[in-house]
Amino acid sequence: MQTTQYYQEAFINYLNAFTVKREPLNLYEPVNYILQLGGKRLRPVLTLMTAEVFNADYKKALPAALSVEVFHNFSLVHDDIMDAAPLRRGKETVHIKWDTNTGILSGDAMLIMAYQLFECYEPQTFQQLAKLFSKTALEVCEGQQYDVDFETRQDVTIPEYLKMIEYKTAVLVGAAMKMGAIVANASKSDQEDIYSFGRLLGIAFQLQDDYLDAFGDPKTFGKQVGGDIIENKKTYLYLKALETLNDKEKAELTSLFSSVLEDNTFKIDRVKQLFKSSGSAEATQEAIKKYTNDAYKVLENLSISENKKEQLKDFGHALMKRTV
Ligand code: IPE
Ligand code: IPE
Ligand code: MG
Ligand code: MG
Ligand code: MG
Repeated sequence: MQTTQYYQEAFINYLNAFTVKREPLNLYEPVNYILQLGGKRLRPVLTLMTAEVFNADYKKALPAALSVEVFHNFSLVHDDIMDAAPLRRGKETVHIKWDTNTGILSGDAMLIMAYQLFECYEPQTFQQLAKLFSKTALEVCEGQQYDVDFETRQDVTIPEYLKMIEYKTAVLVGAAMKMGAIVANASKSDQEDIYSFGRLLGIAFQLQDDYLDAFGDPKTFGKQVGGDIIENKKTYLYLKALETLNDKEKAELTSLFSSVLEDNTFKIDRVKQLFKSSGSAEATQEAIKKYTNDAYKVLENLSISENKKEQLKDFGHALMKRTV
């Protein structure tokens, strides 16, 4: 097994060869733009790493890794339209740089390309990958719909929130790892366990994303800080704050989260204060640790060396510490 950086570089070399030089330019340029914008390459690295965890050459998993990254980037292009987000990875989002229609269609094309990449595999592997991909992609759509529905709902519960982030984010992290295991012909029980590991890590990852959306450093985060507050996203930060604030502050927070404003400066500052004073910022950090530890526990079931388990844990640890 190699280091994260090694897999990242190998993946980027493979991705660079994938640049689409086709017409119409207005369909394919945004595809190249978003794929070359950088990002952590977390999911494809996990696919490659998992293939090697189960004793296959990572190269065999490159098309699957690219498929996952292309799908992820498709979901970001559409997500940024839905979230009215101006910034992605420190640059303009596709629908701002071009327009909404361009974002919709280039996103559609990427979804199809992601599926097409499975054609690199033999029928049996193809079928398993395609089946997992279809199930996961539909769940991501379900998660995204819940996320949008929750913006205007006042009675969202924490279990509902957890289900929403599991679908919109965590299942893809689980699937990225399971694809590596499928390519490596791992046993069914190892496939399921590595999927659970990825899914739990993915829940921690989205909790952290929500935390950074409010408390991240605008210089490194690459997205508009406070974007979730502007959009009234019912995050763990928000739901936990409602549990502990007194009635007056609770009413204030609820009212701030039913507003759509021109100038959000005050709203963002005040909401962040309430997230801190209520203890929900801290509770979110605790929840991130809890889900990461739950992920580590699943590793115990796997029939792999201690050394490999340690490397997977290190990966989880690095994710918890991220600022990007
Ligand atoms: C952003 O994913 C969307 C979420 C699920 C939180 P990443 O944080 O992995 O985005 P990039 O690819 O590194 O930019
Ligand atoms: C993203 O959730 C989930 C998907 C793109 C499917 P967010 O809306 O929190 O992601 P960011 O913060 O825009 O990256
Ligand atoms: Mg978003
Ligand atoms: Mg979103
Ligand atoms: Mg976010």
